[in-house]
Amino acid sequence: MAVNLKTAEEIERMRVAGRLAAEVLDFIAPYVKPGVTTDKLDRLCHDYMVNEQNTIPAPLNYAPPGHNPYPKSICTSVNHQVCHGVPGDRVLKNGDIVNIDITVIKDGFHGDTSRMFWVGEPSIQAKRLCNVTFECLWRGIKTVKPGGYLGDIGHAIQSHAERNGYSVVREFCGHGIGQRFHEEPQVLHYGQANSGLKLLPGMTFTIEPMINAGKRDIRQLADGWTIVTSDHSLSAQYEHTVLVTETGHEVLTVSPGMPAAPG
Ligand code: MF3
Ligand code: CO
Ligand code: CO
Repeated sequence: MAVNLKTAEEIERMRVAGRLAAEVLDFIAPYVKPGVTTDKLDRLCHDYMVNEQNTIPAPLNYAPPGHNPYPKSICTSVNHQVCHGVPGDRVLKNGDIVNIDITVIKDGFHGDTSRMFWVGEPSIQAKRLCNVTFECLWRGIKTVKPGGYLGDIGHAIQSHAERNGYSVVREFCGHGIGQRFHEEPQVLHYGQANSGLKLLPGMTFTIEPMINAGKRDIRQLADGWTIVTSDHSLSAQYEHTVLVTETGHEVLTVSPGMPAAPG
């Protein structure tokens, strides 16, 4: 199946969905404090999406092949959890780092974005991992232009992570996105420049590097969803949904509260 190119009308709907997803992260930020449970964050986001935005939380009951339906409306991945952390009765405590990953559907189109949040005051090491992961995302984004290659994104991310002493998770990747949550192409967060699919205007995909402080190996928990580092080292992730334009790229998951691109 080929990568589909979005029309101007579809791109406008992707902009709306992307902005709404980012606005959920803006909304939840003040609640990410010591003492809150991840279930409470899920409930707050769910109600905001459904009642305030009139969006559909895409994760809820999402059931790709080989998976049981995802039981919650957001993903909350804490400390050594890499991605797809399922909200529950876990209480966030001072020093935790947590990724909150939001995917909304609006008017049939998906917007997908995640950020790291610091609970109270994490260690210098934890904050450095988050900062380098954010830089990795943006180094990937900045390579995106028509005539460029998917491999340029992976190469920019991998080289920045590894020169900082970190590793890149290989089993999960960014993805095409539109009327489906996950579509072609797969966007690897490692690889060679000038390799892989050539980028064309109208492509929309996510970039969402998962970077580990220790080894890259991962395990899945018995809940069938939550992914953790095998060595229990900390992991961080940031995600944006991006459009390839005629001249470069446009980040679609933008909002007033989003962290600015590194200088
Ligand atoms: N939002 C995740 C991504 O970036 C996917 C979550 S699937 C879920 O691709 F079912 F775990 F929510
Ligand atoms: Co995604
Ligand atoms: Co996501």
